[in-house]
Amino acid sequence: MKNTVVIGAQFGDEGKAKITDLLASKADFITRFQGGSNAGHTVVANGKKYAFHLIPSGILYENKICMIGAGCVIKPDDLYNEIQGIISQGVSEEHFKKYLKISPLATLTMKYHIDIDGYSESALGSNKIGTTKKGIGPTYTDKYNRCALRVEDLFNDETLSKKIDIILPKKNKELEFVYNLKPYTKEEILAECTEYKKILAPYVDFNWQENLWNYKNNKSILFEGAQGVMLDVDYGTYPYVTSSSPTSGGAAVGASMGALTIERAIGVFKAYMTRVGEGAFVTELDNETGEKLRSIGGEFGVTTGRARRCGWFDAISAKYAVLVGGLSEVALTKLDVLDSFEEIKVAIAYKNKKTGEIVKNYPTNVFTHADFEPIYETHQGWLKDISKCKTYEELPQNAKKYLARLEELLGIKITIISVGPDREQTIFVEED
Ligand code: GDP
Ligand code: IMO
Ligand code: MG
Repeated sequence: MKNTVVIGAQFGDEGKAKITDLLASKADFITRFQGGSNAGHTVVANGKKYAFHLIPSGILYENKICMIGAGCVIKPDDLYNEIQGIISQGVSEEHFKKYLKISPLATLTMKYHIDIDGYSESALGSNKIGTTKKGIGPTYTDKYNRCALRVEDLFNDETLSKKIDIILPKKNKELEFVYNLKPYTKEEILAECTEYKKILAPYVDFNWQENLWNYKNNKSILFEGAQGVMLDVDYGTYPYVTSSSPTSGGAAVGASMGALTIERAIGVFKAYMTRVGEGAFVTELDNETGEKLRSIGGEFGVTTGRARRCGWFDAISAKYAVLVGGLSEVALTKLDVLDSFEEIKVAIAYKNKKTGEIVKNYPTNVFTHADFEPIYETHQGWLKDISKCKTYEELPQNAKKYLARLEELLGIKITIISVGPDREQTIFVEED
């Protein structure tokens, strides 16, 4: 398989993990390149359902190295709990020791990052972002402010002590005087680091440079994204976004192998749209139709359990995601969820309610989104169970028409169609 990146192309939860897990069967090396345990990734394999947060979705296979890359943020105790959860479902500890690798350059989420995330959200009140409270924003803030600890720091007592001496006085001032939160002693931070070192030690790949040369030169690589383009810190619905870059460009940075290693970029779209947390969502359906999508689609968050907001497919933001996400093809998921809808709508433009202006380019200032209403085109539903369709030809005519129209609107091919959560419920339109 060509080196492939799989990213979410909407607001996250598009079913990326299912697609990553499937494509992982054809890859040698799978690497997550951004985000942390804010992600909630569901893989259904051999009748069992697994929930991943930070562990790459290829981990269920034998003989595939799965790496948590340099662009990720790690809260080691969350990772520990995630590993234990999967072990309790029958995957051995040895399997993780053999196949799970962590980049020494990944950034650590400390307890104080969680404290700050919680504080920031409550201080914002009704303007909150609706974060997962996993400390993601505060950790990336420290990374870019050049005062974060990285995984490798845990393994050098002398430099760790020096770094804490540099970081902690500043961090404590921030905790006390900006956030009115409890400061930490050096002993507390060292104790936290000792615990984290113990958790991460079996997985940290100190030989990563040589290994990546080998993968880059000889192996097939799958880059796994979390979140989605519309949650990207530069291109998403800022400030209602996450703090990393879930685009194919983000993969070039966060996986330590550069842009030219990537040969194919698959954007995963749901056949409709969902969003958790706050922020603009022009095609949101706050009505019975939205409720129907939620209940048939099982639209509840894997990480926080929150009900996902639901709406129709928005071709304006989707076309934008093709551009800024750097996509070369589409995987369309959850088409089966639309089986019982008589009519299916797609937003093909926005109308400015104040000025009457019709907008076809995605308006990036989301504070203006309340001014826009979607202009829909309506497609006739197929009113058939498609969850057992194995080929494109078997799909009902109206489903084919819907797919063809989405391809036309997005300007790239739909090469994978998902008609259910299981691996088998997948149609590969164009095999690699
Ligand atoms: P991710 O974060 O993008 O990996 O997606 P999530 O795992 O958060 O949410 C996707 C949900 O949809 C999971 O419960 C999947 O098992 C499920 N799913 C994935 N593809 C399909 C599909 O084609 N049809 C249906 N009905 N469910 C799907
Ligand atoms: P996966 O990988 C859906 C959302 C949060 C919030 C915003 C910022 O499963 O698609 P953060 O905790 O990252 O600072 O929260 O981003 N968010 C997600 N929404 N799926 C995710 O991941 C998400 N990760 C973060 O709900 O709106
Ligand atoms: Mg998810």
